[in-house]
Amino acid sequence: MSAIRSLTAQEILDSRGRPTIEVGCTLESGATASVSVPSGASTGSAEALELRDGDPRRYRGLGCRAAVRNVVGPIAAAIAGVEFDAQRELDATLTALDGTSNKSNLGANAMLGVSLAFARAVAVERDLPLYRHFAGLLEPGMELRALPRPTINLFSGGKHAGGQVEIQDILLVANGASTVDEALAWTWAVYQTAADLIQERYGERALSADEGGLAPSVQSIEALFELAVDAITDSGFRPGTDLSLCLDVAASHFVSGEGYRIGSDLLFPADLVERIGGWVEQYPIVSVEDGLAEDDWANWPSLFARISNRAIVLGDDLLTTNPARIQRAIETGSANALLLKVNQIGTLSEAAEAARLARSAGWAIVVSARSGETEDNWLSDLAVGWQGEALKVGSITRSERLAKWNRLLAIERETGLPVTPWPNSTRS
Ligand code: PGA
Ligand code: ZN
Repeated sequence: MSAIRSLTAQEILDSRGRPTIEVGCTLESGATASVSVPSGASTGSAEALELRDGDPRRYRGLGCRAAVRNVVGPIAAAIAGVEFDAQRELDATLTALDGTSNKSNLGANAMLGVSLAFARAVAVERDLPLYRHFAGLLEPGMELRALPRPTINLFSGGKHAGGQVEIQDILLVANGASTVDEALAWTWAVYQTAADLIQERYGERALSADEGGLAPSVQSIEALFELAVDAITDSGFRPGTDLSLCLDVAASHFVSGEGYRIGSDLLFPADLVERIGGWVEQYPIVSVEDGLAEDDWANWPSLFARISNRAIVLGDDLLTTNPARIQRAIETGSANALLLKVNQIGTLSEAAEAARLARSAGWAIVVSARSGETEDNWLSDLAVGWQGEALKVGSITRSERLAKWNRLLAIERETGLPVTPWPNSTRS
């Protein structure tokens, strides 16, 4: 049983320099903790609302002072001094206080900050590593068997870069590595080789995008796949065996009328499914995220049928960590993996419900950062505690990304756990 003595909140700046919030929570026992809340750019329309001030004279309307006021005002007034037996009681109190279906009253950023800060303070109070506390929130007594496998952004496009290619991320996964340490070292080598190849082939020092992925001015998606495969080979690894590719197509963001626009091509959904199917056959691709748009429910089952023998079919904008949308995807056979971002839904308990539902259908879980991140590292504890198959954090550059990889390395040293096998590891 834990009671909150006080809450603090302040506006801070994220990795893009945009405002977000940091929330502090002190319990009656004196245990205290703070967390910072990330923020997306390639957001799904079904996400819970991130409250912004809307004042165009300050941070172009992106200020978070209203969210700060909601934490120290109505939220603190409603929960200070109340004994909470469990995280879900606190989260239920927050959602009832908000009273809307998309958290638009208090703001999902304000609510998640409180939800997470409470969890971290309770972990401090119980003297538990945060990942153990998170595990207990998902399932009391849950055993930790393995660590999530890093998926790391190599090339960026779409909304995270200059739009050279429509696809948002081409990621590396070291599916043959047996430790996190090895996975990071291998991936780093390939990332550096890819940067060298871009210099050689295009005479260009590739700039990096919002999540630290390389963003060369190459406009062909297939040329990027070739570069990725060559970078794996030139680094001394076997594509598909040691390292493979994951895609975040983020197709919601290049919808055009009834179809999708890739370069000068206007593709009907069936054409896009076929194009992705071809990529998955031709290149060592083991995961495809948001291959179709978030509301293209009619065509997700055919995407699933086309690629699921080779790649996991991962929903981000499609699912927005929302149990109702996950249920629909299970019933319609649209996906078999959940991209889990807690700020899409706004409280830890609702995200846990999403994770349990995905697990009950036998899905994989990829725990994900946002493109706007902070120096905080709670995400790595969450990915371990909830036993995600993968952790998606962006690239292997930039401190807001490295904070998570470094925390995962620390957990690896502390626990000695193996890294979990890739869900499609039978493929080579
Ligand atoms: P976001 O996107 O954090 O910018 O919304 C990340 C993703 O699409 O996975
Ligand atoms: Zn995505």
